[in-house]
Amino acid sequence: MKQIENRKFVLASHNAGKLREFSDLLKPFGYDVRSAADLELPEPEETGTEFEQNAYIKAFAAARATGLPALSDDSGMCADALNGAPGVYTADWATLPDGSRDFYMAMEKTENLLREKGAEGPEQRRARFVCVICLCFPDGETEYYRGEVEGHLVWPPRGDLGFGYDPVFQPEGYERTFGEMTAEEKHGWKPGDEHALSHRARAFKKFAQARLGAS
Ligand code: IMP
Repeated sequence: MKQIENRKFVLASHNAGKLREFSDLLKPFGYDVRSAADLELPEPEETGTEFEQNAYIKAFAAARATGLPALSDDSGMCADALNGAPGVYTADWATLPDGSRDFYMAMEKTENLLREKGAEGPEQRRARFVCVICLCFPDGETEYYRGEVEGHLVWPPRGDLGFGYDPVFQPEGYERTFGEMTAEEKHGWKPGDEHALSHRARAFKKFAQARLGAS
C-alpha cells in the first residue's frame, strides 16, 4: 500500500464547516495538513452524479496541483420522500445566482417539497446524511471511505451549531438535531471509540483505521 510520506497531505475542500470538522477529527493524529482553501487552489467543477465521482474530482485536482496526497469529502443529505434528493446536489440547492450560499433557503425548499408530498411524521420524513471521503495520490491511485447516518427532517430548524442542513437533521435515537450538538457530540467518535455518529465521523473512522493507525 502506498504511504502518506512525511505525514503530509492536503484537505481538498473550501467548505469552512467541513474543514473545521476534519481538523477536529485529525487533531489527535499529528499530521501536517493544509487545505485547498489555504493554498488558494481553484475549486474544480463537480460534474459527477455520484458522491464518489465528485470526491474523486476534488481530491485528484488537489493532488495534481500540489504533488501531495489529497483527502476530499463529498457529502449531502438524501430524503426518502424526495427519492434521495437533494443528494449530490445538496450544496447546489443553497447556491444563489451570485455564487454565495443560503442554507435557510435550501432547508425551506426541502421542507416545501416534503409538504407537497404530504410527508408529516418522522417515518415519512426519513433522511440520511452521506459522506464519501476520497484519498487520492498525485499519480491517480485512489481509495474511498463511506459513512452514512440515518435520521429524519424536522421543521422549524433547531440550533445554530454545526453548518449546512444540521438544524433540520435529527439523527435516529436522539432528541436533538445536529445543529443542537457540539462538534464532539456530532462526531461521537475519537480514536479508540467503537462507534461514531455523524456520516463524516463514520467515514473518517474507516480512513483513520486504514491509514492513520487508529484502532
Ligand atoms: P459538497 O460535498 O461540497 O457537494 O457539499 C455538500 C453539502 O451537503 C454541504 O454544502 C452541506 O450543505 C451539506 N452537508 C454535508 N455534510 C453536512 C453536515 O455534516 N451537516 C450539514 N450539512 C452537511
